[in-house]
Amino acid sequence: MADFETVIRNAHVATASDTFRCDIGIAGGRIAALGARLAAGHREIDAGGRWVLPGGIDTHCHLDQPMADGVEFADDFRSGSISAAHGGTTTIVPFAAQQPGGSLRAAVEDYHRRAAGKPVIDYAFHLILADPSERVLGQELPALVRDGYTSFKIYMTYEGLKLNDRQILDVLAFARREGAMTMVHAENSDCIGWLTEKLEQAGRTSPYYHAVSRPAAVEREGTHRAITLAELIDVPILIVHVSGLEAVEQIRWAQSRGLRIYGETCPQYLFLTADDLDKPDFEGAKCVCSPPPRDKASQQAVWNGLASGVFQVVSSDHAAFRYDDPKGKKAAGTRAPFAKIPNGVPGIETRLPLLFSEGVGKGRIDINKFVALASTNAAKLYGLYPRKGTIAIGSDADLAIWDDSTDITITQSLLHHNCDYTPYEGMTIRGWPTTVLSRGEVVVENGALNAEPGRGQFLRCDLPAPARPAGTAYGRLVEELRA
Ligand code: URP
Ligand code: ZN
Ligand code: ZN
Repeated sequence: MADFETVIRNAHVATASDTFRCDIGIAGGRIAALGARLAAGHREIDAGGRWVLPGGIDTHCHLDQPMADGVEFADDFRSGSISAAHGGTTTIVPFAAQQPGGSLRAAVEDYHRRAAGKPVIDYAFHLILADPSERVLGQELPALVRDGYTSFKIYMTYEGLKLNDRQILDVLAFARREGAMTMVHAENSDCIGWLTEKLEQAGRTSPYYHAVSRPAAVEREGTHRAITLAELIDVPILIVHVSGLEAVEQIRWAQSRGLRIYGETCPQYLFLTADDLDKPDFEGAKCVCSPPPRDKASQQAVWNGLASGVFQVVSSDHAAFRYDDPKGKKAAGTRAPFAKIPNGVPGIETRLPLLFSEGVGKGRIDINKFVALASTNAAKLYGLYPRKGTIAIGSDADLAIWDDSTDITITQSLLHHNCDYTPYEGMTIRGWPTTVLSRGEVVVENGALNAEPGRGQFLRCDLPAPARPAGTAYGRLVEELRA
């Protein structure tokens, strides 16, 4: 009788801390044994000495979020999760977004309906807090945190989403009290609004001017302010989609002062520059995202930040809008001014192959750092560890077997998203996950999908940080005032 449902033989395993060769025995969807010459499995997979890594965790992706003005995200939970799985990701955490003035619980229920029957891999939800009223922070959010929605994103920019500093303090004080994680989109809204108006008055409205309207200084200021507010409350925060040198410097400065400021970046800031927004015939719209890609020096600063530990997470910020589509990038017309182009780029499938090839393959980061950035750190920061994010006995058997010997040229037809382009078209990389397991089931086999939509399970997140009473004088004061 076989001891294991599945045994992966000859695996070259890397976790965030260790590298070793072994067989992996899987039972009940979990890793049951790691060792040499394990007993037979019902199914045997020969990894042939290739890397077997924890499945990726993409903790920043936008799928089927309700949008205004006839705009639609390209990917829902079906296409988004299939695309993610093909790129070696086995857990996704998109956003249930509160409508201004709306109920957060209603947003979560709506998002569960949108997900129902669709994901091929496991998923959790972050919340987007657009309206942190007394009722939301006092009643809805505590109950949601208890139910496993333990992280939320707040915005310093975007009409309808942005919070002022007082509101941000309220949210951070809540996060500290509950032990929840706050993700911050850090850009100065008034500066962007002012610059946008001036650019429009000067007739400079092509996609390239999106980058001009949101310069690095605007992100630097937002990042510094977010750090300051978190310091006042003495609470950890994670600055999302950090684009370059100036914001990296702020985060490094905060970390050097002992503050618990975490950083996330994305492939668009490693491989694109503002010049990609300057392509002719509106093609630049394909790379319009916020913050915008910067320049080569900023790319280098982000790579340095990955290697040196400034960043804990590389996510995709997959926010895919189809290019040739009246509900996508051209929703406001085929020559829309930059301020009307939906923000975001696709990348849920290419996130890990790009980081693996250009990071590990080119010697910029080692394989353990890759695992940490791609999977483990996110699991820890968002309360999914050790169920997700590592290869250890008892953890879910979420695994990716990587072929690191074949060159692949990225092209739209290779990908499984529902977007109609990739910003990385024509880029040749080395390394792609060929076989992917989710809870022990092979969901991608030699590059082909082998999973029914809806098999993915919803994950309730634990609290990432212990709930604590306010520690600093400012924090105590805020607590008192809120009591
Ligand atoms: O341009 C971007 N990043 N779009 C997605 C929304 C966000 O702010 O992350
Ligand atoms: Zn954002
Ligand atoms: Zn985003």
